[in-house]
Amino acid sequence: MAETLAIVPFEEGDLDVIMGIENASFPTPWTRQCYLDLAPLDSISFFVVKLKGEIVGYMLYQRWAEEMELHTIAVSPSHRRTGVAKKMMEHMTADAEKRGVKRIFLQVRPSNAPARSLYTSFGFHVIGARRGYYRDNFEDALVMRMELP
Ligand SMILES: CC(C)(COP(=O)(O)OP(=O)(O)OC[C@H]1O[C@@H](n2cnc3c(N)ncnc32)[C@H](O)[C@@H]1OP(=O)(O)O)[C@@H](O)C(=O)NCCC(=O)NCCS
Repeated sequence: MAETLAIVPFEEGDLDVIMGIENASFPTPWTRQCYLDLAPLDSISFFVVKLKGEIVGYMLYQRWAEEMELHTIAVSPSHRRTGVAKKMMEHMTADAEKRGVKRIFLQVRPSNAPARSLYTSFGFHVIGARRGYYRDNFEDALVMRMELP
């Protein structure tokens, strides 16, 4: 399955599908405007994953010199556990290596076992917590970091 996936840059016409996945995936989804504002920034990388032309996932990350932050990654509920997120994480880490990035950061809910397992499998580890960070239930945010060679 993973080899038939294509990772391509975001286009504005992708937003309807992205928002469908976003609203199905996050308790406090980002808005369309949020994605539209971030997409053109030089520091932002925004990709969608297509399976036979259908968008099944997306990721958005940002780079500042030797550091990167993964802001969002999501997979359509009907395509989870088929390696889509793994493919996106591989894409991001390969991009980071190519661009001389030394560290990648992200935030995750302690309750989000699938995402934590995904990140741990890529070498991320918890370096701290932001108390009461999430505004829907005041859950902490775990801050995770991965070091690149
Ligand atoms: C987290 C998420 C992106 C994973 O996407 P996915 O395409 O299903 O993940 P993959 O199939 O590529 O799985 C890769 C690894 O992630 C982990 N993983 C994914 N789903 C998991 C689950 N339900 N339970 C436990 N581990 C899971 C496993 O380590 C898995 O490797 P394995 O299949 O060899 O065990 C997806 O569940 C999602 O979109 N969740 C909602 C949005 C979200 O929480 N994003 C992260 C915010 S921090």
